Amino acid sequence: MTEPAGPRAASGRFWALMGAAAVGLFLFGFLVGWFAKPAEEKTSLRPHEKMKRAFMAEMKAENIKKFLYNFTRLPHLAGTEENLHLAKQIQAEWKEFGLDSVHLAHYDVLLSYPNETKPNYISIIDEFGNEIFNTSLFEPPPPGYEDVRDVVPPYSAFSIQGMPEGELVYVNYGRTEDFFKLEREMGINCTGKIVIARYGKIFRGNKVKNAELAGAKGVILYSDPADYCAPGVNPYPAGWNLPGGGAQRGNVLNLNGAGDPLTPGYPAKEYTYRLDKASGVGLPKIPVHPIGYHDAESLLRKVKLHIHSNNKVTRIYNVIGTIRGAVEPDRYVILGGHRDAWVFGGIDPQSGAAVVHEIVRSFGKLKKEGWRPRRTVIFASWDAEEFGLLGSTEWAEDNAKVLQARGVAYINADSSIEGNYTLRVDCTPLMYRLVYSLTKEIPSPDEGFEGKSLYESWYKKNPSREYKEVPRINKLGSGNDFEVFFQRLGIASGRARYSKNWVKKYSSYPVYHSVYETYEIVEGFYDPTFKNHLTVAQVRGGLVFELANSVVLPFDCRDYAAAVSNYAYVIYNLSKNHEEELSKYSVSFDALFSAVKNFTEVSAHFHENMQQIDINNLLAVRSLNDRLMFLERAFIDPLGLPDRPFYRHVIFAPSSHNKYAGESFPGIYDALFDIKSKADQHKAWEEVKRQISIAAFTVQAAADTLKEVA
Ligand SMILES: *[C@@H]1O[C@H](CO)[C@@H](O)[C@H](O)[C@H]1NC(C)=O
Ligand SMILES: *[C@@H]1O[C@H](CO)[C@@H](O)[C@H](O)[C@H]1NC(C)=O
Ligand SMILES: *[C@@H]1O[C@H](CO)[C@@H](O)[C@H](O)[C@H]1NC(C)=O
Ligand SMILES: *[C@@H]1O[C@H](CO)[C@@H](O)[C@H](O)[C@H]1NC(C)=O
Ligand SMILES: *[C@@H]1O[C@H](CO)[C@@H](O)[C@H](O)[C@H]1NC(C)=O
Ligand SMILES: *[C@@H]1O[C@H](CO)[C@@H](O)[C@H](O)[C@H]1NC(C)=O
Ligand SMILES: *[C@@H]1O[C@H](CO)[C@@H](O)[C@H](O)[C@H]1NC(C)=O
Ligand SMILES: [Zn+2]
Repeated sequence: MTEPAGPRAASGRFWALMGAAAVGLFLFGFLVGWFAKPAEEKTSLRPHEKMKRAFMAEMKAENIKKFLYNFTRLPHLAGTEENLHLAKQIQAEWKEFGLDSVHLAHYDVLLSYPNETKPNYISIIDEFGNEIFNTSLFEPPPPGYEDVRDVVPPYSAFSIQGMPEGELVYVNYGRTEDFFKLEREMGINCTGKIVIARYGKIFRGNKVKNAELAGAKGVILYSDPADYCAPGVNPYPAGWNLPGGGAQRGNVLNLNGAGDPLTPGYPAKEYTYRLDKASGVGLPKIPVHPIGYHDAESLLRKVKLHIHSNNKVTRIYNVIGTIRGAVEPDRYVILGGHRDAWVFGGIDPQSGAAVVHEIVRSFGKLKKEGWRPRRTVIFASWDAEEFGLLGSTEWAEDNAKVLQARGVAYINADSSIEGNYTLRVDCTPLMYRLVYSLTKEIPSPDEGFEGKSLYESWYKKNPSREYKEVPRINKLGSGNDFEVFFQRLGIASGRARYSKNWVKKYSSYPVYHSVYETYEIVEGFYDPTFKNHLTVAQVRGGLVFELANSVVLPFDCRDYAAAVSNYAYVIYNLSKNHEEELSKYSVSFDALFSAVKNFTEVSAHFHENMQQIDINNLLAVRSLNDRLMFLERAFIDPLGLPDRPFYRHVIFAPSSHNKYAGESFPGIYDALFDIKSKADQHKAWEEVKRQISIAAFTVQAAADTLKEVA
C-alpha cells in the first residue's frame, strides 16, 4: 500500500507553475500573520497565490455571524412562503455581491406536512380503549421565540396516515444487527407490533425500513438521553443538551438517490409525468412518529399512533448563481448547500448557508475588482434537502447532460458546525492532497494551537487510522446534497465542517432538528466568536478557489489508486471469513487485484507525465485536466447497484444499512452481507462473483481513461 498525501518535496517545472495549493506550503512556508501579509510581500507572489490570499482575507467571522442571525429569525420550511422569501433575498444579495447571474430554479416535488387542525400524537390506551396518556403536540418554545408562528410540530415526514394500536417492542437503534438479535437470539417476533427505536447511529429511514421488513405496523422514534444529552451539560437554554420536551424531526424515506418520489430519474417540471402518490419511490408503508425523552419515559406496553400528515406536491426553489470562468467557462466548480430548515435552522443548515453567503461575497469582491476564476463557479442554495435531498437532485437531473460533460467538482456546504473540537472532512480520494495542503495554509482556530496550522490541530486531534501521519478523512456516504453529484453522476466531491470529539458516544448534536436549534445556541455555546465558522469558510472557499482557478486541476490520481487498493484488501479480507465457500464456488479476486495493480501503475505514470507538461500548451493542459476530471466519472456504472439504480459509483455508496455512512466496493459488500443465512448458496456466491467482475472491469476502465491513448 502506498502512502497517500504525505508531505513531500516539490520540484520541477510543473510544480513551480501549477496553481495547486499543494505547492503553497513549500514555496511560501508558514504565513506570518496568515492572509494579512504586508503589501510589498504580496506583490512578489504569483497571481494565483495573491488572489487566493485576498479571497481568504476578505472573509470575516463578523459577517458570517450577521448572516446567521439574519437567516434564523423565522422558520424556513421547504415549500413555505418564508422560504421562498429567503430565496429571493439571497438572489438579490448574490447579485449585489457581484455574481454574473442569479436565478431561481423551481421544481414541483412531493413534500409532507402535518394536518394543521388534526395533530399527530401517540396515546397509551387502557383495556377499554380510553386514551389515558397523550404525547405532547409541540415542543415548549425556546425563550424569545414564544410568538413565532408556523413552527411545524415534530413529525416524521412522509409517514403514512393511520391509527395502529398494539404492543410496544423496544428495538434499540433499529439497526440491521438489532433486528437480527431480536429475531435470531431473543426469539422476539415484531410482526403486528409497534416498535420503538432510539434515534442515533444510523439514518432514521433505515430504521423504518428495518421495522417494515420485520413486520411492524408502526414506528416510534425517540431521543434517548444516553444519545442526546452529553454528561455534565444542561438542557437548552442553560446548556446545549436537548430538553426533555424536544424531539427530532426528519424524513423517513428510503429514496436511494431517486430525488422526488414521483419523478425518479427526471426533473419535477410542470410537464413531467408523475407516478401516483401511492406508488412513489421510497415512501414508508407504516405510520411513524418522533417523540422526546419525557414522553418516551411514559410509554407503556400498549400504545396507539394517530398520524394524519399529508403528502402534497409543492413548489420548491433553488437559488443558482454563477461567476463565468475567464479561460474555461465550460468547466464548472459547484459550491452548494441547503436553505430549507425544519424550524429556525440555527445549525442545520443556516450555519452553512451563512458561510456560503460570505464565500459568495468574497468571490464577488474579487470579481468587482476585475478578477475572474479560470473556470466557472456555480453557487447553489438548495431547497427541500430535509425532504430527501430534493432540490439538489432535481436540479442535477435537469442539468445532468451538461454536468456529466463539464462538472469538475462539487463542494457541499450544510451545517458548518456540529461541535467545536476539530475539522471533519469527507471527500473523494482525488482531493486528499488538496485538503491537506490547503489546511496547512489555514490558521488553527483551536485553543493551544496559536500560530499553528489547521492541519496541525486536526492531525493532533484526529489522526488517520489507515495512513500514517495524516489527519483522518472519511468516505463520502450520503444524507446530504452532494449525493446526486457524487453517487449518481460521478463528479469529484467533498465536504468539511467543524465537528465534535467522536470518542464521545452521543449521536449528532443534541438539539438536531428540534425547535432549539437557534442562533442563540450557536452564539452561546458552539462558536461565540464565529472563528470556527470562519475556518470552515476558508476550507470550503479555499477548495472552491483552488479547484476553479488552478491551471492544472489539483487532483491526485495516485491517492485514488492507493485508496482503491486498500478497499480491495478490506473486501478481500472480509471474504476470508468464508474460506470454504470461496474454494467450493471458485470465487477469485485475481481480476480485481490485477485491475488495481494496473490502475496504480497508470496513475504513477500519469503523474510523472503531468510534471513534464508545458503549462503554456493549452491543448495539452486541457487534455490532462479532462482525464483528471473524467476519472471520477469512470467509476460510474450506468446500470447502478443492485436494486439501487441511482447509486452508480462502483467504489463508494451509501451503506445499505445506514444512508449516512459510506461503504467501499458496495456491490461486493452487499453480496457478501449475511451470506451464510441465504437459502440458495450457489446463487448467492454467483452474485459475489458477478460483483467482483464488475468491480474489476470498472477499475480497469478508470485506469484506461487516464491514458492518452487507451
Ligand atoms: C436580512 O437582511 C436583509 C438584507 O440586509 C434585510 O433586507 C432583511 O430585512 C433581513 N431580514 C431579517 C429577518 O432581519
Ligand atoms: C385535516 O383535518 C381536518 C379535520 O379532520 C379535515 O377536515 C381536513 O380535510 C384535513 N386536511 C387535509 C389536508 O387532509
Ligand atoms: C388524548 O387526546 C384525545 C383526543 O384529543 C382526548 O380525547 C383524550 O381525552 C386525551 N387524553 C388525555 C389523557 O389527555
Ligand atoms: C411472526 O409472526 C407472524 C404472524 O404473527 C408469522 O406469520 C411469522 O411467520 C412469524 N415469524 C417468525 C420468524 O416466527
Ligand atoms: C466546546 O469546547 C469545550 C472545550 O473543549 C467543551 O467543554 C464544550 O463542551 C464544547 N461545546 C460544545 C457545544 O461542543
Ligand atoms: C488484510 O489482512 C492481512 C492479513 O491478516 C493484514 O495484514 C492486512 O493489514 C489486512 N488489510 C486490510 C486493508 O484490512
Ligand atoms: C491489467 O493489465 C494487463 C497488462 O496490460 C492485462 O493483461 C490485464 O488484463 C489487465 N487487467 C484487467 C483486469 O483488465
Ligand atoms: Zn441539513
